[in-house]
Amino acid sequence: LAFTQTDQARRIGEDERARILADPGFGQYYTDFMAHASWREACGWDRGEVVPFGPLYLSPAAAVLHYGQEIFEGLKAFRHADGSVWTFRPERNAERLQRSARRLALPELPTEAFLDSLRAVVTADEPWVPEATSEESLYLRPFMFASEEFLGVRAAHAVEYYVIASPAGPYFPRGVQPLVVWITDEYARAGAGGTGAAKCGGNYASSLLGKREAAEHGADEILFLDSETHTSIDELSGMNVFAITADGRLLTPALTGSILEGVTRESILRLAADRGLEPLEQKLEMSEILAQLGSGEITEMFACGTAAVINPIGEFRAHGGSWRVGDGGSGEITLALRQELTDIQYGRVPDRHGWLTRL
Ligand code: COI
Repeated sequence: LAFTQTDQARRIGEDERARILADPGFGQYYTDFMAHASWREACGWDRGEVVPFGPLYLSPAAAVLHYGQEIFEGLKAFRHADGSVWTFRPERNAERLQRSARRLALPELPTEAFLDSLRAVVTADEPWVPEATSEESLYLRPFMFASEEFLGVRAAHAVEYYVIASPAGPYFPRGVQPLVVWITDEYARAGAGGTGAAKCGGNYASSLLGKREAAEHGADEILFLDSETHTSIDELSGMNVFAITADGRLLTPALTGSILEGVTRESILRLAADRGLEPLEQKLEMSEILAQLGSGEITEMFACGTAAVINPIGEFRAHGGSWRVGDGGSGEITLALRQELTDIQYGRVPDRHGWLTRL
């Protein structure tokens, strides 16, 4: 499976593109092209293509619209000072898409085909990759869904795979500012044996009501606790969570099967160890975390993901009260980790772990 471009015509003019790239925000604008491949039970993946970005033609009976058989990925293309374009650990996204596919009974896309689809879109949309001088990137969104026109409940025999691209600035509208996080005591994101570790649309759909509740309490994000006891930290609506202690431990919830195996999460654990922090993946009881915020034992907390990179958490709120993280500002180690990660991604420091792939 290889992706080839047929139509060369751009959708958006140069002036309009420059205007968009000057302030892209997150997820608001789309490029000229997208990659596409189809899979059929009888014959597997067909030849890939790069086509103009545009609406999809889909039967109203397409299985995805009824049963949510859909998975996706998120990664970014970064421009370096010499003009070259790179992406960060894309094989980890390829592998996760394969794991998500297994869980959602979708076909696995081979890693090479995944990488080729990214390369094809970024080559076609090269003028859309923001300049190296900005902290912006081209966000790539590969996704796969059941397109078969069929209302019976079973794994679909017809599936589509696409990659769309969207120029991206900061994920949160306020930029990299300390987040206010609402702790829900009502909803859970995922349960044991469910799809929590898969990157499927349903997990995000189930977070939306909680996100609305968070906004009603003046919060930017929602924190989900485990579904069984509602006492230990799972993750935010689309980000993993970390805490840093005064004595140099970096804590994050262990991968229990109900939280997403974040590529940024995994990279931070490595970078933290490199700088002498002690990374610990373990069960994090919310009540203990809040007590340790009060006693000063935990000094910093942050959220992380591909889209949000690393974003400090400044405060937690819940029905029972509110808790400040440190002085409520952006933690020093948090910002240093963010700087180091983005320096690697933008090629400003050596890529000592071999995390970058040239597109
Ligand atoms: C990402 O971080 O790339 C995601 O897919 C999560 C979403 C909140 C944008």
